[in-house]
Amino acid sequence: MRYTILGITGLIAAVEAQEIFHTTKGHSARSQCTQATSSPSYYFQPFSYTLNETVRYATSMPSPTTTKTYAPAYTDAVKHFTSLSTTTWGNWLPGQTVISATDTDDPFGQAAWSSMWQAADLQNYTTTGMYSTTVSPTPIPTSELVLPPSDYFGPNDCYNFPDDFVFGVAGSAAQIEGAIALEGRSPSLLEKLVADSRPKDYVTNENYYLYKQDIQRLAAMGVEYYSFTIPWSRILPFVHPGTPVNQQAIDHYDDLINTILDAGMQPVVTMLHFDSPLMFVASDNITKHPDIGYNNAGYQNETFVDAFVNYGKVLLTHFADRVPIWVTFNEPLLYAFNFQGVDNVVHAHSQVYKFYHNELKAKGKLGIKFNDNFGVPKDPKNSSHVDAANRFNEMQLGFFGNPIFRGEQYPKSILDTMPGAKRLNDSELEYMNGTSDFFGIDPYTATVVSPADEGIQACSKNTAESNSLFPYCVKQETENIYGWNIGYRSESYVYITPTYFREYLLYLWNTFRHPVFVSEFGFPVYGEADKDLPDQLFDSPRSVYYLSFMSEILKSIYEDGVHVMGALAWSFVDNWEFGDYSAQFGIQVVNRTTQQRHYKKSFFDLVDFVKTRQDRKD
Ligand SMILES: *[C@@H]1O[C@H](CO)[C@@H](O)[C@H](O)[C@H]1NC(C)=O
Ligand SMILES: *[C@@H]1O[C@H](CO)[C@@H](O)[C@H](O)[C@H]1NC(C)=O
Ligand SMILES: *[C@@H]1O[C@H](CO)[C@@H](O)[C@H](O)[C@H]1NC(C)=O
Ligand SMILES: *[C@@H]1O[C@H](CO)[C@@H](O)[C@H](O)[C@H]1NC(C)=O
Ligand SMILES: *[C@@H]1O[C@H](CO)[C@@H](O)[C@H](O)[C@H]1NC(C)=O
Ligand SMILES: *[C@@H]1O[C@H](CO)[C@@H](O)[C@H](O)[C@H]1NC(C)=O
Ligand SMILES: *[C@@H]1O[C@H](CO)[C@@H](O)[C@H](O)[C@H]1NC(C)=O
Ligand SMILES: *[C@@H]1O[C@H](CO)[C@@H](O)[C@H](O)[C@H]1NC(C)=O
Repeated sequence: MRYTILGITGLIAAVEAQEIFHTTKGHSARSQCTQATSSPSYYFQPFSYTLNETVRYATSMPSPTTTKTYAPAYTDAVKHFTSLSTTTWGNWLPGQTVISATDTDDPFGQAAWSSMWQAADLQNYTTTGMYSTTVSPTPIPTSELVLPPSDYFGPNDCYNFPDDFVFGVAGSAAQIEGAIALEGRSPSLLEKLVADSRPKDYVTNENYYLYKQDIQRLAAMGVEYYSFTIPWSRILPFVHPGTPVNQQAIDHYDDLINTILDAGMQPVVTMLHFDSPLMFVASDNITKHPDIGYNNAGYQNETFVDAFVNYGKVLLTHFADRVPIWVTFNEPLLYAFNFQGVDNVVHAHSQVYKFYHNELKAKGKLGIKFNDNFGVPKDPKNSSHVDAANRFNEMQLGFFGNPIFRGEQYPKSILDTMPGAKRLNDSELEYMNGTSDFFGIDPYTATVVSPADEGIQACSKNTAESNSLFPYCVKQETENIYGWNIGYRSESYVYITPTYFREYLLYLWNTFRHPVFVSEFGFPVYGEADKDLPDQLFDSPRSVYYLSFMSEILKSIYEDGVHVMGALAWSFVDNWEFGDYSAQFGIQVVNRTTQQRHYKKSFFDLVDFVKTRQDRKD
């Protein structure tokens, strides 16, 4: 189905709903079949085996020839931002219970640092992995780079990616790094997220020590952009402005960025990816989000804005010279789901943007990325379903997007519904308007939306305690109006919904009027973790997901006029999914006994799809 966007208010009205199954979903029209025939002629011929395997190898990224500079180097950048003292702290080791440091008078000393870990009181804490120092990379054997057999049905298009299209892969620190209490990192909320016996983030893929090898593996596959995240509590263990910077963390991410550049790739850096410093949350107040199940991450804390802006400036002064693309917040809605949390994010983000462009005069891109499984009306012909979908998308995206991208007030649905909501004043709106260079979206899937049974109006007068659908006040389902799932199901909430994805891109571009950056998308194949390794590697459903979404991006660009800036596959490797490893989003498998990585078929298919649709002069 196709919606017409009416103006920039995000209002959509359904038209052409009749065409649902014929135009966008179907291969039903055999348009390529010009001469169908039903009169075969049978014959004999000599038989021989002719289906030889053809060998093709992934093409690695070429060595860099030039280094682009996007901002002043540290020595100049730091003039815009004084008071950066640095120090180093040690490790908090498993079994450690006593603080032996004697510098108890120093508010930022070893004793103060250790006491944060002691107070965090980690259960079954371990650092036991294979590594305790940075591992030197080894070249990837060409035998690992042979392309897999193609799937029978493949994309059927005639478009190339624009020259400046950002193609890459993504991961996040707490999900892959391990070494959570080593080299000066202080506790984040994620160490406390999983209170039961499910896996913690303590060790995971040991990427803190294996990053050189992981980067080498990406470059060998021909990946152009590697998107990673920096943990705030590594850089600033004491979190707040005026507290010392962790020299070991600066050195680590400095080397990580240089390793990416040396491999011929480009870094994308996210400042905060759920690993909010634990100190923002009073220890007895790690409450579950009623809807999403994640925690209150303290974004609403009265000290949050100044602290985040300071942290953002520390990162930018050190690294902005070499990083072309920055993201301030990852999916802030999941961790800031109350009015004050979002209000803080909007303020903090815009201040970091102003520092980047107005003070550093940096020339790269800086933006923010959101979660929102696209809400589509269950019955597109029913205006109350269309209203429900609009409300759902607006409350998740317009909450941030109105001020940041349009200089406009928080949506009426937010002001009318969210407890404690207050309007931004005119000077705030003017300040915030246009403070993101792209609209980052993690559009994994779609969700089928209709109004709450008692109606949106009645529901929105309720509070979180009395109605589980509050505050959106819409029902979310996975079936369409005819009772079919909206797509092929994964291990988790993701369904393969490429045509809704294209419609989503159209919605975002026309609503927020900024280049759309698909900052994460991916598919955890159902039951993959239970399969034998060769069967995990032959992950055709994931290839279908990626190639169909990439095809729809091309159509969106060339047939809908949508500026899609790029796309980052989530994730470059299977990782810790906030308590388990069974939802495998990776395009590589990890054996966590040996820390060996294996490329999946979809990784080759995705890169091959992009490379065969590039027509670069350089
Ligand atoms: C496979 O190899 C045979 C013998 O070298 C050759 O005659 C045949 O053309 C090859 N088939 C394909 C599909 O390349
Ligand atoms: C810690 O380990 C013990 C023994 O293996 C286990 O019973 C317990 O559930 C674990 N606790 C947590 C919080 O992981
Ligand atoms: C806010 O954060 C500070 C530390 O930055 C902490 O001392 C305080 O308890 C937090 N406030 C709440 C309400 O959690
Ligand atoms: C706990 O979190 C709730 C929700 O953010 C907040 O209203 C309350 O003040 C917090 N309580 C403490 C003791 O920090
Ligand atoms: C439209 O949807 C509402 C809410 O689900 C429902 O009550 C109403 O009957 C629907 N109208 C039509 C014409 O289907
Ligand atoms: C926001 O900035 C854009 C671009 O400068 C401008 O066109 C628009 O009018 C501004 N919005 C408001 C509400 O002032
Ligand atoms: C707008 O709000 C800011 C606080 O964010 C305040 O400092 C400023 O004085 C307000 N401006 C007006 C005109 O009310
Ligand atoms: C990990 O690798 C080891 C050594 O090759 C092997 O014995 C083990 O079965 C592998 N584990 C998994 C889950 O594949």
